[in-house]
Amino acid sequence: MNVTHLRVNHLEEPLGYDLQSAAFSWIVTDAVGCCEKARLRVFRGDECIFDTGVSDSLDPLGTETPLQLQPRTAYRWKITVWDSSGARSESEAGFETGKMGESWLGRWITPGKRDHAVLEKRFTLAQAPEEARIYLTGLGLYRLFINGNPASEEVLMPGLNAYDRWVQVQTFDVGPLLRRGDNRLEIWLSGGISRGRFSFTPSDGYEYCPYDCAIAELHVRSGAGETVICTDKSWRWHTSPILESSIYDGEVWEPGRLEESGPAELCSPDVGHLRDRLSPPVRIVMERKPQRVLLTPAGETVLDMGQNMVGWIRFRDRETKGRTLRLLFGEQLEHGCFSRANLRSAKAAFQWKSDGEQRIAEPYFTWYGFRYVLLEGFNGPVDPGDFTGCVVSSDLEQTGSIVTGHEGLNRLIENVLWSQRGNFLDVPTDCPQRDEREGWTGDAQVFADAACYNMDCAAFFTKYLADMLEEQKKAGGCVPYVVPFARNRSRGFEGGAAGWGDAAAVIPWTLWLHYGDRSLLRRQEQNMIAWMDWVAEQDDWSTACRHFGDWLALDRSEEPAERVGKTDIPFLCLCYAFLTAEMTGAAAAVLEDRETEASAAVLAAGYRRRLREEFFTSEGELKCRTQTACVLALHLDLAPDRAKTGELLRSLVREAGHLTTGFLGTPWLLEELPDREAWDLLLREEYPSWLYEVKLGATTVWERWNSLTEDGCFSETGMNSLNHYAYGSVAAWLYGHMCGLRPLPDAPGFRRFRWEPAPDRRAGFALCRLLSPFGEIVSQWRYGEEGLTLLLHVPSGSEADARLPDGRQARLGPGEHRFLIPDAE
Ligand code: BGC
Repeated sequence: MNVTHLRVNHLEEPLGYDLQSAAFSWIVTDAVGCCEKARLRVFRGDECIFDTGVSDSLDPLGTETPLQLQPRTAYRWKITVWDSSGARSESEAGFETGKMGESWLGRWITPGKRDHAVLEKRFTLAQAPEEARIYLTGLGLYRLFINGNPASEEVLMPGLNAYDRWVQVQTFDVGPLLRRGDNRLEIWLSGGISRGRFSFTPSDGYEYCPYDCAIAELHVRSGAGETVICTDKSWRWHTSPILESSIYDGEVWEPGRLEESGPAELCSPDVGHLRDRLSPPVRIVMERKPQRVLLTPAGETVLDMGQNMVGWIRFRDRETKGRTLRLLFGEQLEHGCFSRANLRSAKAAFQWKSDGEQRIAEPYFTWYGFRYVLLEGFNGPVDPGDFTGCVVSSDLEQTGSIVTGHEGLNRLIENVLWSQRGNFLDVPTDCPQRDEREGWTGDAQVFADAACYNMDCAAFFTKYLADMLEEQKKAGGCVPYVVPFARNRSRGFEGGAAGWGDAAAVIPWTLWLHYGDRSLLRRQEQNMIAWMDWVAEQDDWSTACRHFGDWLALDRSEEPAERVGKTDIPFLCLCYAFLTAEMTGAAAAVLEDRETEASAAVLAAGYRRRLREEFFTSEGELKCRTQTACVLALHLDLAPDRAKTGELLRSLVREAGHLTTGFLGTPWLLEELPDREAWDLLLREEYPSWLYEVKLGATTVWERWNSLTEDGCFSETGMNSLNHYAYGSVAAWLYGHMCGLRPLPDAPGFRRFRWEPAPDRRAGFALCRLLSPFGEIVSQWRYGEEGLTLLLHVPSGSEADARLPDGRQARLGPGEHRFLIPDAE
């Protein structure tokens, strides 16, 4: 027996995170029978400050503790478990608090109106440090260097959030970078989303803070006691090699240019309070070499990374002094030539003027979504070995994987993962390449279930929902279209759309199902209630704001350019109001919040009644005859006659010959069809389908079913991202139905789960590994000579409700279970 995966608030060994309410989780593997007892202890130094005693009621998915933590303090925690045989196992891990709201010795400082400057402090340490921590943040984005070395592998700090409400503080262990004698701290700053061009405002841009600024406190402990170095008037600024920096447009660098400098100024930015961070780190999570260097028919030199990826290129500059190099980033070749027809106004470039010093070149405060890189200004043939693709993402643990006997399906699964990796970049963004890259709530909502299978998203979504709640507080509970909804001079508040704002309910509930941690639900119930109440307060929600409907559905053949699908907006509003009320009520029931539970039940019953009255005929026929309307009516169990609505859905699919669903109908479409018909849609390779993209060489998920036409060209410019995870929501069907693993609301976190695989001979086999909060679940099926073999591994502490394709049902405990269906279809 082993205890692994020790986490505090779903973070491994968190340093400087917001741990005001700390919940501890762990995984027990290889226990005999169940894990009968456990004991959790927390230590500060040698002193045990908290002890649950040996208990049979500790929750491995999230044990909340009434800890009184001190700021800037390191703790260890130990978890001891005993299984049914009496065997014992113990593990320990650490966590350390940040400033926890204590007042700052450091002051905000700024280089004034200078863009892309570096704040610098030189100081002397009389002795080598024993230990050192720096607490800091900077706006827009910052990087910290100590004695010329990066203080952390993290990039794009302090993360992207609603700075007008709170600014995240990072804590780093910088002891190893400091030395006795002279030392130098440098904080590089640039705009990010804090100011400059972002969102739909080409000219005036966003303005959280009109200047760059930073605040820091370095605490150094040595034999001589504690030294604290703070940002104050003694700091200086100097120019950096960065001349331009913008998230959409990229960067312009001129290394070696003459440096200017001057004294830093104190400032009081009008931003929210400083708070210990929530964001999991954003890092370079992978490096890739170009697959080929292409010379295109237009005479362009283009790197092909072999994969649509998000991040940037790092390269060695071997050019002569004064030469200007330019890298342009794009997702697609059209007729063999480099194309950026889908980037709208984003310049997505990196420009570098060589000073002949053979430096390593890479941007600091931007990112690109690309597979192809057009190289300009390079002298002679380029060596692909000089270029490295840096894949940048929130560093989340991959928890799920699926392999099947179908090549196209395997590529689709990979594509969904790549789209998640690329767009989970501190914020769940819609796309990484054009002039958008925003935390669109609808996209995040429809993809959340798939996302939680693929990766451990608990901490990532916790930060997103914390930001969402801040936005909701500003807007009377309403949820903006995008989170964070950056302060913007020319645009007022925009939000409230059906299926978008409902992210406030769907994401918390999805996290509960997947991770079963009550502490998350407790925090996020506020999002749910605020949104549910806002919806309930609207006289007519369908006209109260702009709705996106079943976005990008294909059911308006008479107006193909129309992006809002045909499914009635008032119907969608009622469906989502119902879904939110149901989820909020269920969350309240878990939390024993009886008042909310009761009010949600009244609302849900009212919405259901209105749906039936307004959208079904007295014969039980659905009036809105779109695939999405049927899917929602079935999924939400709103149809008075399920069989009738089910038959309508089948006939609409047959009539069209394919799916026509948009963002809101697609996630549950396959689930609401009989398995055979679901598989037909899944394996279809003609347009429109998931595998059409794969057939055309997609390496990520596209925004539209027809982002590219058969000849590989963009079907229309304007809005055509090739890296948009929304339709990747199909992965939830692959895990939950094809491989049959579904979490259950009455035993969330896979404490007990449904195992009901939907195999199909055309895929040959499927093998799924899912690292659940109880440990690894393996689900496999395979067609062979002897028939269909099914296998399930249930981890310690968990159990499965199995329903086999031949109708057999069983409750399965920990261990391996094998079944054979000799005469399977
Ligand atoms: C985004 C979407 C988003 C939509 C709202 C688009 O521009 O890329 O994914 O949900 O707007 O309709």
